Amino acid sequence: MIGMFVRANLKPALTLWYNNVVMISKSTIFTRPWNGIIDCYRTYLPVSNKTPVVTLNEGNTPLVYAPHITKLCNMPGLAVYLKVEGANPTGSFKDRGMTVAVSKAVEMKSKAIICASTGNTSASAAAYAARARANGFKMDCFVLVPKGYVALGKLSQAMIYGAKVIQVKGNFDEALKLVKEIVEKYPVTLVNSVNPFRIEGQKTAAFEVCEQLGRVPDVLAIPVGNAGNITAYWKGFCEYTRDTRPKMIGFEASGAAPIVQNKIIEKPETVATAIRIGNPASWKQAVNAAGESSGFIDCVTDDEIIEAYKLLHQKEGIACEPASAASVAGLLKSAKLKKIQPESTVVCVLTGNGLKDPDTAIKSSEQEKLEVAPDLKEITKLLGF
Ligand code: F0G
Repeated sequence: MIGMFVRANLKPALTLWYNNVVMISKSTIFTRPWNGIIDCYRTYLPVSNKTPVVTLNEGNTPLVYAPHITKLCNMPGLAVYLKVEGANPTGSFKDRGMTVAVSKAVEMKSKAIICASTGNTSASAAAYAARARANGFKMDCFVLVPKGYVALGKLSQAMIYGAKVIQVKGNFDEALKLVKEIVEKYPVTLVNSVNPFRIEGQKTAAFEVCEQLGRVPDVLAIPVGNAGNITAYWKGFCEYTRDTRPKMIGFEASGAAPIVQNKIIEKPETVATAIRIGNPASWKQAVNAAGESSGFIDCVTDDEIIEAYKLLHQKEGIACEPASAASVAGLLKSAKLKKIQPESTVVCVLTGNGLKDPDTAIKSSEQEKLEVAPDLKEITKLLGF
Protein backbone atom coordinates (compact mmCIF):
# COMPACT_ATOMS: atom_id res chain seq x y z
CA MET A 1 0.00 0.00 0.00
CA ILE A 2 2.85 2.34 0.74
CA GLY A 3 4.09 1.77 -2.78
CA MET A 4 0.71 2.71 -4.20
CA PHE A 5 0.65 5.82 -2.00
CA VAL A 6 4.03 6.93 -3.17
CA ARG A 7 3.23 6.17 -6.79
CA ALA A 8 -0.04 8.03 -6.69
CA ASN A 9 1.15 11.11 -4.86
CA LEU A 10 4.67 11.96 -5.89
CA LYS A 11 5.97 13.07 -9.24
CA PRO A 12 7.89 10.20 -10.85
CA ALA A 13 11.20 12.06 -10.51
CA LEU A 14 10.69 12.09 -6.75
CA THR A 15 9.41 8.54 -6.40
CA LEU A 16 11.73 6.67 -4.11
CA TRP A 17 10.31 3.38 -5.29
CA TYR A 18 12.71 0.81 -6.63
CA ASN A 19 11.36 -2.54 -7.82
CA ASN A 20 9.42 -3.76 -4.85
CA VAL A 21 11.22 -1.68 -2.27
CA VAL A 22 9.92 1.63 -1.00
CA MET A 23 12.65 3.81 0.40
CA ILE A 24 11.05 6.24 2.82
CA SER A 25 14.35 7.53 4.11
CA LYS A 26 17.90 6.34 3.89
CA SER A 27 17.51 4.42 7.12
CA THR A 28 14.02 2.95 6.58
CA ILE A 29 13.50 0.36 3.88
CA PHE A 30 10.31 -1.67 3.53
CA THR A 31 10.43 -4.84 1.51
CA ARG A 32 8.18 -7.73 0.64
CA PRO A 33 8.85 -10.76 -1.57
CA TRP A 34 8.13 -10.55 -5.28
CA ASN A 35 5.00 -12.52 -6.14
CA GLY A 36 4.36 -11.48 -9.72
CA ILE A 37 2.67 -8.55 -11.41
CA ILE A 38 -0.88 -9.17 -10.17
CA ASP A 39 0.31 -9.11 -6.57
CA CYS A 40 2.38 -5.96 -7.10
CA TYR A 41 -0.01 -3.94 -9.28
CA ARG A 42 -3.36 -5.40 -8.16
CA THR A 43 -5.14 -2.04 -7.87
CA TYR A 44 -4.24 -1.21 -11.47
CA LEU A 45 -5.53 -4.52 -12.84
CA PRO A 46 -9.02 -5.95 -13.53
CA VAL A 47 -8.83 -8.53 -10.73
CA SER A 48 -10.73 -8.95 -7.47
CA ASN A 49 -10.20 -11.11 -4.41
CA LYS A 50 -12.33 -13.72 -6.22
CA THR A 51 -9.81 -14.04 -9.07
CA PRO A 52 -7.76 -17.23 -8.67
CA VAL A 53 -4.29 -15.87 -9.46
CA VAL A 54 -2.27 -18.06 -11.80
CA THR A 55 1.29 -16.76 -11.61
CA LEU A 56 4.87 -17.82 -12.21
CA ASN A 57 6.16 -14.69 -10.43
CA GLU A 58 6.63 -12.89 -13.75
CA GLY A 59 7.78 -9.27 -14.03
CA ASN A 60 10.38 -7.39 -11.99
CA THR A 61 12.82 -7.78 -14.90
CA PRO A 62 16.17 -5.95 -15.03
CA LEU A 63 16.62 -2.49 -16.51
CA VAL A 64 20.26 -2.33 -17.57
CA TYR A 65 22.29 0.69 -18.69
CA ALA A 66 23.85 0.18 -22.15
CA PRO A 67 27.14 2.14 -22.37
CA HIS A 68 28.15 0.94 -25.83
CA ILE A 69 24.82 1.68 -27.51
CA THR A 70 24.69 5.03 -25.72
CA LYS A 71 28.08 5.88 -27.25
CA LEU A 72 27.04 4.67 -30.71
CA CYS A 73 24.08 7.06 -30.70
CA ASN A 74 26.65 9.86 -30.53
CA MET A 75 24.40 12.46 -28.94
CA PRO A 76 25.28 14.71 -26.01
CA GLY A 77 23.59 13.72 -22.76
CA LEU A 78 21.77 10.72 -24.21
CA ALA A 79 21.47 7.57 -22.07
CA VAL A 80 20.19 4.20 -23.25
CA TYR A 81 18.73 1.52 -20.97
CA LEU A 82 17.55 -1.98 -21.87
CA LYS A 83 14.42 -3.52 -20.34
CA VAL A 84 15.36 -7.20 -20.35
CA GLU A 85 12.00 -8.93 -20.73
CA GLY A 86 13.72 -12.19 -21.67
CA ALA A 87 14.20 -12.60 -17.90
CA ASN A 88 10.51 -13.49 -17.49
CA PRO A 89 9.64 -17.10 -16.53
CA THR A 90 9.12 -18.36 -20.09
CA GLY A 91 11.65 -15.94 -21.56
CA SER A 92 9.39 -13.22 -22.96
CA PHE A 93 7.15 -10.27 -22.07
CA LYS A 94 4.10 -12.38 -22.90
CA ASP A 95 4.10 -13.74 -19.33
CA ARG A 96 2.92 -10.37 -17.97
CA GLY A 97 -0.20 -10.57 -20.11
CA MET A 98 -0.67 -14.29 -19.76
CA THR A 99 -0.87 -14.28 -15.95
CA VAL A 100 -3.85 -11.91 -16.17
CA ALA A 101 -5.48 -13.62 -19.19
CA VAL A 102 -5.24 -17.11 -17.69
CA SER A 103 -6.29 -15.99 -14.18
CA LYS A 104 -9.40 -14.37 -15.70
CA ALA A 105 -10.06 -17.45 -17.87
CA VAL A 106 -10.01 -19.59 -14.72
CA GLU A 107 -12.25 -17.08 -12.90
CA MET A 108 -14.73 -17.31 -15.79
CA LYS A 109 -14.67 -21.13 -15.50
CA SER A 110 -13.06 -21.62 -18.90
CA LYS A 111 -11.52 -25.06 -19.35
CA ALA A 112 -9.30 -24.35 -22.35
CA ILE A 113 -7.24 -21.58 -23.93
CA ILE A 114 -6.09 -21.15 -27.51
CA CYS A 115 -3.79 -18.81 -29.43
CA ALA A 116 -2.11 -18.27 -32.76
CA SER A 117 1.54 -17.52 -32.31
CA THR A 118 4.92 -16.85 -33.85
CA GLY A 119 6.22 -18.78 -30.81
CA ASN A 120 6.42 -16.76 -27.61
CA THR A 121 2.70 -16.45 -26.95
CA SER A 122 2.36 -20.21 -27.39
CA ALA A 123 5.20 -20.91 -24.94
CA SER A 124 3.69 -18.57 -22.38
CA ALA A 125 0.11 -19.83 -22.80
CA ALA A 126 1.31 -23.42 -22.47
CA ALA A 127 3.20 -22.63 -19.26
CA TYR A 128 0.35 -20.73 -17.57
CA ALA A 129 -2.13 -23.47 -18.54
CA ALA A 130 0.20 -25.96 -16.85
CA ARG A 131 0.32 -23.69 -13.79
CA ALA A 132 -3.49 -23.47 -13.72
CA ARG A 133 -3.59 -27.28 -13.74
CA ALA A 134 -1.06 -27.30 -10.89
CA ASN A 135 -3.48 -25.08 -8.96
CA GLY A 136 -6.21 -27.71 -9.42
CA PHE A 137 -8.12 -26.33 -12.40
CA LYS A 138 -8.81 -28.09 -15.69
CA MET A 139 -7.09 -26.08 -18.40
CA ASP A 140 -6.17 -27.37 -21.85
CA CYS A 141 -3.97 -25.33 -24.15
CA PHE A 142 -4.11 -25.34 -27.95
CA VAL A 143 -1.65 -23.40 -30.07
CA LEU A 144 -1.54 -22.76 -33.82
CA VAL A 145 1.88 -21.82 -35.17
CA PRO A 146 3.16 -21.16 -38.71
CA LYS A 147 4.97 -24.32 -39.81
CA GLY A 148 8.69 -23.82 -40.34
CA TYR A 149 8.79 -20.26 -38.96
CA VAL A 150 8.95 -20.73 -35.20
CA ALA A 151 12.34 -20.59 -33.45
CA LEU A 152 13.39 -23.93 -31.98
CA GLY A 153 13.38 -22.84 -28.33
CA LYS A 154 9.79 -21.61 -28.51
CA LEU A 155 8.40 -24.70 -30.24
CA SER A 156 10.13 -26.96 -27.72
CA GLN A 157 8.67 -24.92 -24.83
CA ALA A 158 5.07 -25.20 -26.04
CA MET A 159 5.54 -28.95 -26.49
CA ILE A 160 7.14 -29.74 -23.13
CA TYR A 161 4.69 -27.55 -21.16
CA GLY A 162 2.03 -29.87 -22.57
CA ALA A 163 0.14 -27.79 -25.12
CA LYS A 164 -1.43 -29.33 -28.19
CA VAL A 165 0.74 -27.78 -30.91
CA ILE A 166 -0.77 -27.51 -34.38
CA GLN A 167 1.59 -26.39 -37.13
CA VAL A 168 -0.36 -24.54 -39.81
CA LYS A 169 0.91 -24.49 -43.37
CA GLY A 170 0.40 -20.76 -43.54
CA ASN A 171 1.54 -17.61 -41.76
CA PHE A 172 0.64 -16.04 -38.39
CA ASP A 173 -2.11 -13.85 -39.84
CA GLU A 174 -3.88 -16.91 -41.28
CA ALA A 175 -3.50 -18.77 -37.97
CA LEU A 176 -4.95 -15.81 -36.02
CA LYS A 177 -7.95 -15.66 -38.33
CA LEU A 178 -8.57 -19.37 -37.72
CA VAL A 179 -8.37 -19.18 -33.91
CA LYS A 180 -10.78 -16.22 -33.95
CA GLU A 181 -13.24 -18.43 -35.85
CA ILE A 182 -12.70 -21.32 -33.45
CA VAL A 183 -13.50 -19.27 -30.32
CA GLU A 184 -16.73 -18.05 -31.96
CA LYS A 185 -17.97 -21.64 -32.15
CA TYR A 186 -16.31 -23.62 -29.36
CA PRO A 187 -15.87 -23.28 -25.58
CA VAL A 188 -12.29 -22.06 -25.56
CA THR A 189 -10.77 -18.72 -24.50
CA LEU A 190 -8.60 -16.72 -26.91
CA VAL A 191 -5.38 -15.55 -25.24
CA ASN A 192 -3.86 -13.56 -28.10
CA SER A 193 -3.36 -9.86 -27.37
CA VAL A 194 -6.84 -9.08 -28.76
CA ASN A 195 -7.85 -10.38 -25.33
CA PRO A 196 -7.89 -7.11 -23.31
CA PHE A 197 -6.56 -8.85 -20.17
CA ARG A 198 -3.27 -9.46 -22.03
CA ILE A 199 -2.84 -5.70 -22.59
CA GLU A 200 -3.70 -5.00 -18.94
CA GLY A 201 -0.95 -7.32 -17.74
CA GLN A 202 1.62 -6.10 -20.23
CA LYS A 203 1.13 -2.45 -19.28
CA THR A 204 2.88 -3.21 -15.96
CA ALA A 205 6.22 -3.17 -17.79
CA ALA A 206 5.75 0.61 -18.24
CA PHE A 207 5.20 1.00 -14.47
CA GLU A 208 8.39 -0.92 -13.76
CA VAL A 209 10.43 1.13 -16.23
CA CYS A 210 9.38 4.35 -14.47
CA GLU A 211 10.10 2.93 -11.04
CA GLN A 212 13.48 1.49 -11.97
CA LEU A 213 14.55 4.67 -13.75
CA GLY A 214 13.17 6.89 -11.00
CA ARG A 215 11.42 8.92 -13.72
CA VAL A 216 9.45 8.54 -16.94
CA PRO A 217 11.80 7.95 -19.90
CA ASP A 218 11.86 10.47 -22.75
CA VAL A 219 11.73 7.76 -25.42
CA LEU A 220 10.57 4.14 -25.45
CA ALA A 221 11.82 2.03 -28.38
CA ILE A 222 9.97 -1.23 -29.01
CA PRO A 223 9.61 -3.92 -31.70
CA VAL A 224 6.19 -4.08 -33.36
CA GLY A 225 4.59 -7.31 -34.60
CA ASN A 226 0.92 -7.81 -33.81
CA ALA A 227 1.18 -4.40 -32.06
CA GLY A 228 -0.19 -5.46 -28.68
CA ASN A 229 2.90 -4.57 -26.68
CA ILE A 230 3.28 -0.98 -27.91
CA THR A 231 -0.43 -0.57 -27.11
CA ALA A 232 0.11 -1.96 -23.61
CA TYR A 233 3.16 0.21 -22.80
CA TRP A 234 1.34 3.34 -23.93
CA LYS A 235 -1.65 2.46 -21.74
CA GLY A 236 0.75 1.88 -18.83
CA PHE A 237 2.51 5.22 -19.25
CA CYS A 238 -0.81 7.06 -19.56
CA GLU A 239 -2.04 5.47 -16.32
CA TYR A 240 1.24 6.04 -14.50
CA THR A 241 1.41 9.80 -14.85
CA ARG A 242 -0.42 12.69 -16.42
CA ASP A 243 2.52 15.10 -16.66
CA THR A 244 5.28 13.43 -18.61
CA ARG A 245 5.04 10.70 -21.19
CA PRO A 246 7.67 9.16 -23.42
CA LYS A 247 7.71 9.35 -27.19
CA MET A 248 6.79 5.86 -28.35
CA ILE A 249 8.96 4.72 -31.24
CA GLY A 250 8.03 1.34 -32.69
CA PHE A 251 9.91 -0.73 -35.25
CA GLU A 252 8.65 -3.31 -37.70
CA ALA A 253 10.93 -5.49 -39.82
CA SER A 254 11.10 -4.01 -43.31
CA GLY A 255 9.88 -7.26 -44.94
CA ALA A 256 6.91 -7.28 -42.56
CA ALA A 257 6.01 -3.61 -42.23
CA PRO A 258 2.26 -3.19 -42.82
CA ILE A 259 1.94 -0.13 -40.56
CA VAL A 260 4.88 1.68 -42.16
CA GLN A 261 3.66 0.85 -45.67
CA ASN A 262 0.04 1.44 -44.68
CA LYS A 263 -1.11 -1.76 -46.33
CA ILE A 264 -1.60 -5.41 -45.42
CA ILE A 265 1.44 -7.50 -46.35
CA GLU A 266 0.21 -10.84 -47.70
CA LYS A 267 3.57 -12.60 -47.50
CA PRO A 268 5.63 -11.05 -44.69
CA GLU A 269 9.27 -12.15 -44.49
CA THR A 270 11.99 -11.44 -41.93
CA VAL A 271 14.75 -13.18 -40.01
CA ALA A 272 12.95 -11.90 -36.89
CA THR A 273 10.25 -14.60 -37.05
CA ALA A 274 8.56 -13.30 -33.87
CA ILE A 275 7.41 -10.19 -35.77
CA ARG A 276 6.78 -11.86 -39.15
CA ILE A 277 3.26 -10.41 -39.26
CA GLY A 278 1.47 -8.74 -42.17
CA ASN A 279 -1.83 -7.61 -40.63
CA PRO A 280 -1.42 -6.66 -36.96
CA ALA A 281 -4.51 -6.99 -34.77
CA SER A 282 -3.75 -3.79 -32.80
CA TRP A 283 -2.76 -1.75 -35.88
CA LYS A 284 -4.94 1.26 -35.01
CA GLN A 285 -3.88 1.33 -31.36
CA ALA A 286 -0.20 1.28 -32.38
CA VAL A 287 -0.69 4.22 -34.75
CA ASN A 288 -2.52 5.96 -31.94
CA ALA A 289 0.27 5.38 -29.41
CA ALA A 290 2.87 6.76 -31.82
CA GLY A 291 0.68 9.73 -32.75
CA GLU A 292 -0.47 10.73 -29.27
CA SER A 293 3.07 10.50 -27.89
CA SER A 294 4.65 12.48 -30.76
CA GLY A 295 6.63 9.35 -31.62
CA PHE A 296 6.62 7.30 -34.80
CA ILE A 297 6.61 3.81 -36.30
CA ASP A 298 9.43 2.97 -38.68
CA CYS A 299 11.05 -0.21 -39.95
CA VAL A 300 14.51 -1.77 -39.89
CA THR A 301 16.08 -4.20 -42.35
CA ASP A 302 17.12 -7.73 -41.44
CA ASP A 303 20.77 -6.64 -41.74
CA GLU A 304 20.18 -3.81 -39.26
CA ILE A 305 18.39 -6.23 -36.91
CA ILE A 306 21.24 -8.76 -37.01
CA GLU A 307 23.85 -6.04 -36.54
CA ALA A 308 22.05 -4.78 -33.42
CA TYR A 309 21.51 -8.39 -32.24
CA LYS A 310 25.26 -9.04 -32.48
CA LEU A 311 26.32 -5.85 -30.76
CA LEU A 312 23.86 -6.39 -27.89
CA HIS A 313 25.49 -9.77 -27.26
CA GLN A 314 29.09 -8.90 -28.02
CA LYS A 315 29.39 -5.29 -26.82
CA GLU A 316 26.85 -5.20 -24.00
CA GLY A 317 26.82 -8.83 -22.80
CA ILE A 318 23.02 -8.82 -23.06
CA ALA A 319 21.19 -11.62 -24.83
CA CYS A 320 17.95 -11.28 -26.75
CA GLU A 321 16.26 -12.83 -29.75
CA PRO A 322 16.44 -11.19 -33.21
CA ALA A 323 12.99 -9.52 -33.05
CA SER A 324 13.95 -7.84 -29.77
CA ALA A 325 17.02 -6.29 -31.39
CA ALA A 326 14.67 -4.34 -33.71
CA SER A 327 14.22 -1.80 -30.90
CA VAL A 328 17.97 -1.11 -30.72
CA ALA A 329 18.39 -1.23 -34.51
CA GLY A 330 15.57 1.31 -34.74
CA LEU A 331 17.09 3.57 -32.10
CA LEU A 332 20.48 3.57 -33.87
CA LYS A 333 18.80 4.35 -37.20
CA SER A 334 16.74 7.15 -35.63
CA ALA A 335 19.74 8.66 -33.83
CA LYS A 336 21.66 8.75 -37.10
CA LEU A 337 18.73 10.54 -38.76
CA LYS A 338 18.62 12.98 -35.79
CA LYS A 339 15.06 11.88 -35.01
CA ILE A 340 16.05 11.59 -31.31
CA GLN A 341 16.74 14.65 -29.15
CA PRO A 342 20.07 15.03 -27.30
CA GLU A 343 19.83 14.68 -23.49
CA SER A 344 17.12 12.00 -23.92
CA THR A 345 16.78 9.05 -21.59
CA VAL A 346 15.86 6.15 -23.86
CA VAL A 347 14.58 2.70 -22.91
CA CYS A 348 14.76 -0.08 -25.50
CA VAL A 349 12.52 -3.07 -24.80
CA LEU A 350 14.26 -6.41 -25.32
CA THR A 351 11.17 -8.55 -25.65
CA GLY A 352 12.54 -12.11 -25.73
CA ASN A 353 15.41 -14.24 -24.42
CA GLY A 354 18.46 -15.01 -26.57
CA LEU A 355 18.10 -18.75 -25.97
CA LYS A 356 14.81 -18.81 -27.88
CA ASP A 357 16.56 -18.88 -31.25
CA PRO A 358 19.85 -20.80 -31.10
CA ASP A 359 19.91 -21.31 -34.89
CA THR A 360 20.15 -17.58 -35.61
CA ALA A 361 22.71 -17.16 -32.81
CA ILE A 362 25.00 -19.78 -34.30
CA LYS A 363 24.52 -18.49 -37.86
CA SER A 364 25.28 -14.91 -36.80
CA SER A 365 28.21 -15.58 -34.49
CA GLU A 366 30.95 -15.79 -37.17
CA GLN A 367 32.91 -17.91 -34.71
CA GLU A 368 34.71 -20.87 -36.18
CA LYS A 369 33.91 -24.13 -34.40
CA LEU A 370 37.43 -25.24 -33.49
CA GLU A 371 38.12 -28.91 -32.92
CA VAL A 372 41.38 -30.36 -31.65
CA ALA A 373 42.84 -33.41 -29.96
CA PRO A 374 43.18 -33.07 -26.17
CA ASP A 375 46.69 -31.73 -26.65
CA LEU A 376 48.01 -28.77 -24.64
CA LYS A 377 50.42 -27.57 -27.32
CA GLU A 378 47.78 -27.56 -30.05
CA ILE A 379 45.28 -25.75 -27.83
CA THR A 380 47.66 -23.05 -26.59
CA LYS A 381 48.67 -22.46 -30.22
CA LEU A 382 45.01 -21.94 -31.13
CA LEU A 383 44.63 -19.58 -28.17
CA GLY A 384 47.46 -17.52 -29.58
CA PHE A 385 49.90 -17.98 -26.70
N1 F0G B 1 9.21 -9.42 -29.74
C1 F0G B 1 8.98 -10.72 -29.53
C2 F0G B 1 10.09 -11.55 -29.01
C3 F0G B 1 7.71 -11.28 -29.80
O1 F0G B 1 7.51 -12.57 -29.59
C4 F0G B 1 6.70 -10.45 -30.31
C5 F0G B 1 5.38 -10.99 -30.64
C6 F0G B 1 6.99 -9.09 -30.49
C7 F0G B 1 8.24 -8.61 -30.19
C8 F0G B 1 5.97 -8.12 -30.98
O2 F0G B 1 5.02 -7.87 -30.01
O3 F0G B 1 3.04 -8.59 -31.29
O4 F0G B 1 2.82 -7.25 -29.22
O5 F0G B 1 3.73 -6.23 -31.30
N2 F0G B 1 5.09 -12.21 -30.64
C9 F0G B 1 3.75 -12.77 -30.82
C10 F0G B 1 3.76 -14.25 -30.54
C11 F0G B 1 3.12 -12.39 -32.08
O6 F0G B 1 2.92 -14.98 -31.09
O7 F0G B 1 4.58 -14.72 -29.76
P1 F0G B 1 3.55 -7.44 -30.47
